[in-house]
Amino acid sequence: MNSATTEHRTTDGKTPTSVMLLRNPLDFIAEDHLRLRTMCGELDRLVEATGIEDGAITVMIENLNKELPLLLADEDHDLIPKVLSRAEPEDELPKLIERLEQEHAVISAHLKTATTGLAALVPATDMSDQLREAMRNLASATRRHLTLENAVLLPLARARLTKEDLHELRSATLRRRGLADLFSPQSP
Ligand SMILES: [Fe+2]
Repeated sequence: MNSATTEHRTTDGKTPTSVMLLRNPLDFIAEDHLRLRTMCGELDRLVEATGIEDGAITVMIENLNKELPLLLADEDHDLIPKVLSRAEPEDELPKLIERLEQEHAVISAHLKTATTGLAALVPATDMSDQLREAMRNLASATRRHLTLENAVLLPLARARLTKEDLHELRSATLRRRGLADLFSPQSP
């Protein structure tokens, strides 16, 4: 792993979110959301760009194929179930969770269309209207979703999750990235 991955905080949309933020996994997810918002801006820029930017598109495909699915999995398999398990009746969580899960499904569908289209782009050809629409849809659906999660899900998680929950969330997030030993005492 390089130093950019482990030490530096960045939301340039190109460098993976620092896993060192996983000392508090909610900080990591919040930073990942910021990074995703930057990626949405880059998607919009690529849609409007004149000509195909091979380098930028390669970086975008890489990020869309790896980072976004990892974040969706963190939330679907660990964060959301944990928040749900700690919910109080006044949280009205089942409705919120249903909406978040529907939004994840919509984002995943746009993601598939956009990455397939981007991967099939041939240099010196133009983007199809269908691909441009998929990229715009992915960016706008993701932005709406992030707004809701940042306003409701993350504050609830910060209020309700226990130390033990956060420990389990951190372990699962690290395991998903092949970094299970990052914070172990033996780790350099
Ligand atoms: Fe999400």
